[in-house]
Amino acid sequence: MAPPHDDSTQHPISNILFIIAMQTEASPLVNKFKLADEPNSVYASLSSDFVMLIYGCRISLFPNGVPWVRYSGKYKDLNINIVCPGKDTTLGVDCVGTVSASLLAYASIQALQPDLIINAGTAGGFKAKGASIGDVFLASDVAFHDRRIPIPVFDLYGVGCRKTFSTPNLAKELNLKVGKLSTGDSLDMCAEDEAAILANDATIKDMEGAAIAYVGHLLDVPVLFLKAVTDIVDGDKPTSEEFLQNLNAVTIALDLAATKVVDFINGKSCSEL
Ligand code: ADE
Repeated sequence: MAPPHDDSTQHPISNILFIIAMQTEASPLVNKFKLADEPNSVYASLSSDFVMLIYGCRISLFPNGVPWVRYSGKYKDLNINIVCPGKDTTLGVDCVGTVSASLLAYASIQALQPDLIINAGTAGGFKAKGASIGDVFLASDVAFHDRRIPIPVFDLYGVGCRKTFSTPNLAKELNLKVGKLSTGDSLDMCAEDEAAILANDATIKDMEGAAIAYVGHLLDVPVLFLKAVTDIVDGDKPTSEEFLQNLNAVTIALDLAATKVVDFINGKSCSEL
């Protein structure tokens, strides 16, 4: 008899993990899905639950002391978790960037075993490639633009270009713009980064996407990238000013799109996306 065929892309999706870098970006979605703020712990798995309950103990979902935040709940037929890297313990600002995003993605996948990850957030957009403020993009490809290693093959490793999980039905049904995403750890853009972004053929630029794609690839979890444009990188306004000016308004567009994406996903398998 042939062994059972375990193709998880054919099962209905039941467990979605949002990874969102900034609290401002996450809060409206937490409210929309009526998610609860979870303490940094879960009860132990079934067999030891009994023992844990007797002693009133809880086992940490994330390591003690990390600022990571998790919200969870049920929306339609889906278990939804939203995780954020939280606030830097010294400076009190959101832990944006690839280092926190990678660690959080790794720990969250290990703990929550999601069927699908959605990295939702804001991005800079290139008007020369058709991006405008408030557009919400689905990324078709991701790559890094600030990992310069000019040695054969290491150069390709540094750029880390990869195709994202293909969701043609989702893009079509929701009429989302599709473009390539380039990731780096800076909000601004130096000349070297600009050349790399051009080489990556990117329409949008963020600070987490390619890092989360790397972790998803390592642990074999599909990742979607939903990015709303807060600033025009090839425009005439200073990036940080334009970003802060548009952050709240663009977050509304992002959350509207994310809700539509979740409504579309509900009841479907990954292979139907
Ligand atoms: N997030 C929002 N705007 C950005 C930009 N210009 N670069 C990187 N990440 C961003």
